[in-house]
Amino acid sequence: MHINSLQVRWISAACMMLGVVASASAGEVLGSVSSPDRSISVEVQLEDGGRLAYSVQRRGKQLIAPSHLGFLLTNAPQLDNGFTLARQAVSSHDDTWEQPWGERRYVRNHYQELRLELVQKALDNRRLALVFRVFDDGVGFRYEFPDQQQLPVTQISDELTEFVVAPPSTAWWQEAGEKAALEYATRKTPLAEVGTANTPLTIRTQDGTHIAFHEAALVDYASMWLRKVDGQTLRAHLTPSAFGPPVERRGAFTTPWRTMQIADDAAGLYMSDLVLNLNEPNKLGDVSWVKPSKFVGVWWEMHLEHSTWGSGAKHGATTANTRRYIDFAAHNGFRGVLVEGWNLGWDGNWSGSGSAFSFTQSYPDFDLPALSAYAQQKGVRLIGHHETGGNIARYEQQMDAGYQLYAKLGVDSIKSGYVTDGGAAIFPSAGGGTHFGYTDSQEGVRHYLKAVTEAARYKLAIDTHEPVKDTGLRRTYPNWISREGARGMEYNAWGNPINSVDHEVNLVFTRMLSGPMDYTPGILSLEGVKGRPINSTQAKQLASFVVIYSPVVMAADLIENYEKYPGPFKFIKDVPTDWADTRVLHGALGEYVTIARKDRRSEDWYVGSITDGQARTLPLSLNFLDAGKRYVAEIYRDGDQADYRSSHRFDIVIEKQTVTAKTVLQLKLAPGGGQAIRFTPL
Ligand code: NOJ
Ligand code: CA
Repeated sequence: MHINSLQVRWISAACMMLGVVASASAGEVLGSVSSPDRSISVEVQLEDGGRLAYSVQRRGKQLIAPSHLGFLLTNAPQLDNGFTLARQAVSSHDDTWEQPWGERRYVRNHYQELRLELVQKALDNRRLALVFRVFDDGVGFRYEFPDQQQLPVTQISDELTEFVVAPPSTAWWQEAGEKAALEYATRKTPLAEVGTANTPLTIRTQDGTHIAFHEAALVDYASMWLRKVDGQTLRAHLTPSAFGPPVERRGAFTTPWRTMQIADDAAGLYMSDLVLNLNEPNKLGDVSWVKPSKFVGVWWEMHLEHSTWGSGAKHGATTANTRRYIDFAAHNGFRGVLVEGWNLGWDGNWSGSGSAFSFTQSYPDFDLPALSAYAQQKGVRLIGHHETGGNIARYEQQMDAGYQLYAKLGVDSIKSGYVTDGGAAIFPSAGGGTHFGYTDSQEGVRHYLKAVTEAARYKLAIDTHEPVKDTGLRRTYPNWISREGARGMEYNAWGNPINSVDHEVNLVFTRMLSGPMDYTPGILSLEGVKGRPINSTQAKQLASFVVIYSPVVMAADLIENYEKYPGPFKFIKDVPTDWADTRVLHGALGEYVTIARKDRRSEDWYVGSITDGQARTLPLSLNFLDAGKRYVAEIYRDGDQADYRSSHRFDIVIEKQTVTAKTVLQLKLAPGGGQAIRFTPL
């Protein structure tokens, strides 16, 4: 974008009104901008040698000390020094947009923007722009590469973006670039002891301020890992590519936004919509064909090794077994039935290979057309399944045929999977053949979005497992309905180790800051393979439906287990998956969280509260309810003996109480426990 001289004059006037300091001389401040409420401010400096740096202050305290910006390129001189300021502009933005589905219906997008156009005079006036958006709940910034003869193709070998955290801080993080990709337990260490981390990476400074580092709108670019380079300095580390530069772009482009969500406490972090706000609005138009809903599936039985994905005597995806699930779904009001292992290719070693998968041919004992017709006749939809074993090359050859088949049969959503080791996904090579790479490399990022945009042409929603991390693209492509992207319930079946008792209370303030997760809650039987106990009470399983947001939620347990526990199962049947509003009522990272959500289709509210291994009593003020109304509260709480470490993990009390907005309940959470409540107006 070019700015004419009239605009520059207007901008200078606006800058003076907003109190922006502007100077282009070396070693000085180039510009600064504050959040609408003035609590957060960003300053961009030009250091000696024309190096760019930014810093962030909140309420007069420095959070991010001067941190360098720039790039190393493989095909041109580096893009990190010799800059001078050509133009700057400050603008403000305030609007409210509506989510087709989500944690809340309306989202306010309110920020002040500082845009700096920079020139490297010694390099034939090569240009780069920097854009900062400062919100009341944090900061996002990105680089804009204009179309220019001096750099027709940009090959980035290193992004030098730094985050120099000023106050001593503790970090909650997961390693990046390792074998299990996004599926690691959360680590808690001093920030100075972080290695190479995935994002969101969340820190708590010594005065309690919380910051989550992440990115927004990751499109046609390598995913950003964060590497601790020195002290408390984190530096961007772009996911490597198989060929050399992690990013290669032609012509004009923008990088993803680098984001810092900032709040007084963990609860405030989860309330932030900053990542969504930094994404482009919906590009798909009417998406009423995307259906938030719950489903059951031929799934947990395979993870428990009761049946198999592959063919043979124990094959799970048979016509008869699927009919049983369809009947159960219809009877209990679930919209979907997921069936894994329906298609050819599961026999032998599929994980990390995927070389035999067909996305159109069923095993002979699975009658896809008849089952999808049977389901629809009962008001249920099959949920498609495309496991690729990480073989993206093979999948891309068949993707269109696979989508067409499902669309023809009235299947309107697909769960996909990319089970392979980090760095071992199989990509198509330009001249034929294949090569290995990371799923979160630039070519992986391209593939996942292609799968979603191609699916949109068939009005199919996609729920990606082993995905690239979420960066808020659901705003732009609302058919990207959910993803996995962390250790899910499956680890409680066969994981070594299984998920720890504080797993979910870590996830809410790390992984969940990026977007919905298909966590597959609701294992009321509380055991994995060979009866191994899960680190949870029954009430915590119910509360997870409220706490771990996803518009599509699998009630993951076996039919017989739901039949065994009809009391708690009622909550699973009642709880919606699409919300008009969300409030985090309590939250401490890795310890506990309480979330209230209002149903989008009724006046009901739901509360979920979960804890780590500690028992807790949390006061729950119901002031989120409508003041003039009385409600019946259906309470599913840990029994007095409940404890995740003993057979008392099954102790649950279900009771009713009449309440109003003035009522204060006491949430008694057992070790590893939780509480779920439905509030219905009388
Ligand atoms: C991994 C997914 O996360 C899991 O849900 C699925 O059952 C397996 N892949 C097989 O596709
Ligand atoms: Ca997985």
